[in-house]
Amino acid sequence: MVNILSFFVWILMFQPCHSLCFPVANDIVTNYSSSSLSTVPKNLSNLTNILDLSQNNITEIYMQDFAPLHQLKYLNLSSNKINNLAPAFFRSNQKLECLDLSRNQLMNVECDFLHNATSLKYLDISENNFLSLTLGKAFSFLQDLEYLSLGSRKTIKFRKDDLKEISGKQLQEVSIKLKTLSEYDPSAITILRTTKLHIVLPSIKSFHFLKNVLDDAFNTSDILTLSNFECCQKCNHLSVDCCQTCSKINNGMNQCCSDCSHYIESFKVLGKYSRVQNLSLQHLTVDWETFAKILKIIWDSSVEKLSVSNMKICQVRQHLSWFFLQKQLKSFTLRKINILPFYFSQAIIYDVFEELKVENLIIYESGMIFLTCPKKQNTYKLIDISDNSFTSDFFFQGCSTLKHLETFILKQNRFVQLFEVSNMTTYMTSLKHLDVSQNQLIFDEVRICPWTNSLTKLNLSSNKLTDSVFTCLPSNLEILDLQKNNIYTVPKVLKNLNNLKELYLGANKLANPPDCNKFRNLEILFVEANSFHEPSSTFLQSCQRLTVLNAASNPFTCTCNLRDFSTMNKNTHIEMIGWPKSYCCAYPDVLKGTLLKDFYLSEVTCSPTLLLVIVLGTMFVIAILIGLMCRFLDLPWYLRMTWQWTQMKRRTMKTDSYQLSENLVYHAFVSYSQHDYSWVKEQLLSNLEERNLRICHHERDFIPGKGIIENIINCIEKSYKSIFVLSPNFIQSEWCHYELYFAQHQVLSEHTENLILIVLEPIPQYLIPSKYYKLKSLMAKKTYLEWPNDKNKQRLFWANLQAAIGVSLTAPRQGSISVHND
Ligand SMILES: *[C@@H]1O[C@H](CO)[C@@H](O)[C@H](O)[C@H]1NC(C)=O
Ligand SMILES: *[C@@H]1O[C@H](CO)[C@@H](O)[C@H](O)[C@H]1NC(C)=O
Repeated sequence: MVNILSFFVWILMFQPCHSLCFPVANDIVTNYSSSSLSTVPKNLSNLTNILDLSQNNITEIYMQDFAPLHQLKYLNLSSNKINNLAPAFFRSNQKLECLDLSRNQLMNVECDFLHNATSLKYLDISENNFLSLTLGKAFSFLQDLEYLSLGSRKTIKFRKDDLKEISGKQLQEVSIKLKTLSEYDPSAITILRTTKLHIVLPSIKSFHFLKNVLDDAFNTSDILTLSNFECCQKCNHLSVDCCQTCSKINNGMNQCCSDCSHYIESFKVLGKYSRVQNLSLQHLTVDWETFAKILKIIWDSSVEKLSVSNMKICQVRQHLSWFFLQKQLKSFTLRKINILPFYFSQAIIYDVFEELKVENLIIYESGMIFLTCPKKQNTYKLIDISDNSFTSDFFFQGCSTLKHLETFILKQNRFVQLFEVSNMTTYMTSLKHLDVSQNQLIFDEVRICPWTNSLTKLNLSSNKLTDSVFTCLPSNLEILDLQKNNIYTVPKVLKNLNNLKELYLGANKLANPPDCNKFRNLEILFVEANSFHEPSSTFLQSCQRLTVLNAASNPFTCTCNLRDFSTMNKNTHIEMIGWPKSYCCAYPDVLKGTLLKDFYLSEVTCSPTLLLVIVLGTMFVIAILIGLMCRFLDLPWYLRMTWQWTQMKRRTMKTDSYQLSENLVYHAFVSYSQHDYSWVKEQLLSNLEERNLRICHHERDFIPGKGIIENIINCIEKSYKSIFVLSPNFIQSEWCHYELYFAQHQVLSEHTENLILIVLEPIPQYLIPSKYYKLKSLMAKKTYLEWPNDKNKQRLFWANLQAAIGVSLTAPRQGSISVHND
């Protein structure tokens, strides 16, 4: 863990100058760069792989400083003040591969300290105080050496056999800094065997040996970099236009610029038969004319790829003819070109690009604002003018001389009108790839965009385009990049893009993935970082050929609507880029941060129809059950009885709290029709008396000699409740009505509900004569007990009845009962 961490620290703090020195993941890094050290720290870990001590004030270092570091692979001692190292200094550091000793004060270039540093691949000893470049014997033992950088701050002479010790070795890259060169022996460089050669040219204008240096450089390696052309060196660089300043100093004579002639002279050694194929010129300060002349020489030489970077043009004077260019270069790259004079004829510059014979023209970071359309058919296959200041106005409008152009890169400029960009391509009949990313493109016109039909790859990313861009697209596109624009929806109505295979719509404002109706062959779709809340997965039906989908980093709302989408990964063979880590719920708040992978809602929660079916189903089943219970078990009867039972229990509990009248002798008085006598006797009386309830019974309890009404009233008054056994027979009896009248009368006068109605047989309403309105209303409002014929139910009936009259009376006395003969 620590190692990995330190690796990243390394990555953040260092830019190792060479790929040979790149650290690997487990390297232990110790960085003391720029720490004002004057000696090597003592507490270094023996396991250190990478040690940076550059930019300190270390003057002396001792063998024991590094001896314990057996794992050391990289040591940077650049920019210190070391002037001496003991012979075989690194013999304990058998793994040392990269050693940077540049910018110190070493004086002896023999470098005896390199003895036994057998693993060394990269060695930089440039910018020391060497008095010569005569490498010592130690170099011949550096078996693995691939990169070597040499040079001195002192004025030196470069002798023929200086590099003899490495002459037999095939190197990757050699860099020789000859800024302070005072003399040069021909073929001192050609002795080298290296793939790449970098020569920093001498600053002084001693062109007699510059010519020899260049001659040798051109014949040593295939890839050559030359830097430090100082044509205007005599000028004091105070002024922007050094040549003009010089002109004034020298009484109007252009002395400084004539100084460039020695470069031109020296360059002439670059002929058709030199070795160089790849030539880079860096850090030049030249006038335009000199540059043009050097270009002509290069064009006629063996060079196939030319790159010029960090060039200052100090003067632009003449219009030059470029017809001399015979050969065709493979590529010509210009990077960071700075034209110093403020006023000059732009045409002089543009003309060059009209005439150049080159396949690939690349102009980076040069602040260019315009190019004119070549007057004659041109050979460009690629033009890359990234990172300049081009605008679309008139740029290559209607240009018909770029018929061979296949790739056109206009990235990072100031193009505004997409229509004009399309118009520019009309005659570019070979154009396949156009990159206009990172501009300020808009499209708000209704015109038809006249794109060339050949275009298959179009990059419009990082612009200001909106939904309307879809009405301005070339029809044969295979790859379309519209990332980082302002697109809200992909319109349904647009022309078919049947060849489209890759569509990049990341970082827009889409609410849903587009469906593929208009681009049926889409294979790759990128819609990451949009505004998908609840994207449906239905678009997949139209995107039959999709194999790769990137919908990461959208603010997903994790509800039912997202279910299909979140399980899409399981149900399709589509490769989901960024799954699962970059697919999180953003809403609702409780699910925020949950991975879509872990978000689950069941089928039922999400399907209203299913839910409805289940609810209705259950209700149906319950209804059937209830129906069955009613049909076969007489459920409603039980329910009603149970309800009445609870009601009565409640009432008797209330009644218990009343002061029961002292006169009460019977629990109940029973009134019934003579026709129902057998039921009263066999069922009612025997059942109630079994339960220790005292009933007033006429055969037993009527006091002889008293009138019948008197007896009834007496009986009612002595009973807690009055039970009326109702049946059609009972209704026929006037007496009964009379009794009822008394009973009710008493009920009303004492505010107790003392009536119990037992319906022995169902009584149809019409049977109750209308004069019995009291009975009618009693039947209607008072709950009555129904006598069930079913034996099972009768127990509940008795329990109910008992509950209705079950109060404890003070003392047993004689009861009474009345009988009425109709
Ligand atoms: C050594 O350090 C210097 C300054 O910190 C840096 O410019 C140089 O590239 C480093 N050398 C290597 C080989 O990384
Ligand atoms: C489009 O250009 C951008 C940067 O300008 C780049 O990152 C992207 O990869 C390009 N798209 C394609 C499909 O090449």
